[in-house]
Amino acid sequence: MFLEPKWVRSHFPSVQNSKTIFLDNPGGTQVTQTVIDAVAEYFLTANANHGGVFPTSERNDEMIQRARHAFADFLNAARPEEIVFGPNMTTLTFSIARALGRWLRAGDEIIVTRLDHDANIAPWVALEERGAVIKHVDIHIDDCTLDMSDFEKQLSNKTRIVAVGLASNAVGSVNPVRTIADLAHMAGAFVYADAVAYAPHFPLDVQELGVDFLACSAYKFYGPHLGILYGKYEQLERLQAYKVRPSENTPPYKFETGTPTFENIHAAAAAVNYLASVGEKFGAAFANDYRAFADRRAHLKTGLRAIQQYEKDLFVRLMNGLRELPGIRIYGITDFARFDSRAPTAAFNFDGQHPRDVAAKLGEQNINVWDGNYYALALMERLDLEATGGAVRVGLAHYNTNEEIDALLAALREIAG
Ligand SMILES: Cc1ncc(COP(=O)(O)O)c(C=O)c1O
Repeated sequence: MFLEPKWVRSHFPSVQNSKTIFLDNPGGTQVTQTVIDAVAEYFLTANANHGGVFPTSERNDEMIQRARHAFADFLNAARPEEIVFGPNMTTLTFSIARALGRWLRAGDEIIVTRLDHDANIAPWVALEERGAVIKHVDIHIDDCTLDMSDFEKQLSNKTRIVAVGLASNAVGSVNPVRTIADLAHMAGAFVYADAVAYAPHFPLDVQELGVDFLACSAYKFYGPHLGILYGKYEQLERLQAYKVRPSENTPPYKFETGTPTFENIHAAAAAVNYLASVGEKFGAAFANDYRAFADRRAHLKTGLRAIQQYEKDLFVRLMNGLRELPGIRIYGITDFARFDSRAPTAAFNFDGQHPRDVAAKLGEQNINVWDGNYYALALMERLDLEATGGAVRVGLAHYNTNEEIDALLAALREIAG
């Protein structure tokens, strides 16, 4: 299937009507018109708290239930009750870590990796206060991939939790999470996966991955600011949540503390439906007609496969151009033959230039890129870049075009001198 950028961009008003080149995508993507409309639809028709016996509250409950189905489809979860909504991935992860911490005894071990965003490190390190011992898995410096032999060395019968990302938000490396989950389970540990940097680029399947928990963020895949957590039902059921007494004590509600951002949950489902409509290839834009999506899981898979292929071609073009720039140092996998195991996110520096200055020069030309550590602190420290401002990061999304890559490369050529 061939993705047409013109069709894609017609769904993103802030992209279509703007001179800005959005390459800041791993920090957050633009949203579809259907996502914007869904926020308005919520406030116009269903703006009430949940559980009431009047029409707006009932509509609210129905919308949230539909959204749970949408995300069960998005992640290929066995049932919608395995989907927990929260403010963002970081907050959900702190909440699950704290609940899992209740099961830990002094000396129990938790494995984290140096490739992960700090949102999948700090919540686990916080459990040191319960006596947990934190083990850090190293990376191969040359291509910024996880050192699997180090992982196997760190794993033991004392390991209780393995926290690992599916993809690096800094350098794009994709980790062999299925293998990691199998090894962790053999050792008797839970697996908590961070899919934030993976979800926008590849189909997701929690059952195929075999993880116990997985978190992602809708604002990274064309939706609003919202965190989504998958937990295997029996784990969610067994875990004791930190909650107020009157709220429901069953999954997923017991983990949804306080009043949720209903409008964002409804709008996040519109982002899922948009991705399914990509799979349906030029089907009508049926933002919220969930019934039209009997085959939503299949459409999501084909949609994200199409996105993956399109972004890979764009990324080859980007990498070809980057490699020719004088004085550039690129971090992560650069070998085209291995591009299936990386997300289309490139981090690099130029000799003698501060990454912030490079990003600012691009910003002056309306080319949005990030610089710094993007909270991949452990990685930047390991690469010895933290003290020098980290690196410039260019992250692609499926609404980017060849012309935009060429414009970026032309601007970088000037900057490289
Ligand atoms: C890989 C990764 N994990 C976790 C997070 C944190 O997500 P949130 O902003 O939803 O807390 C981010 C955000 O940049 C990320 O890129």
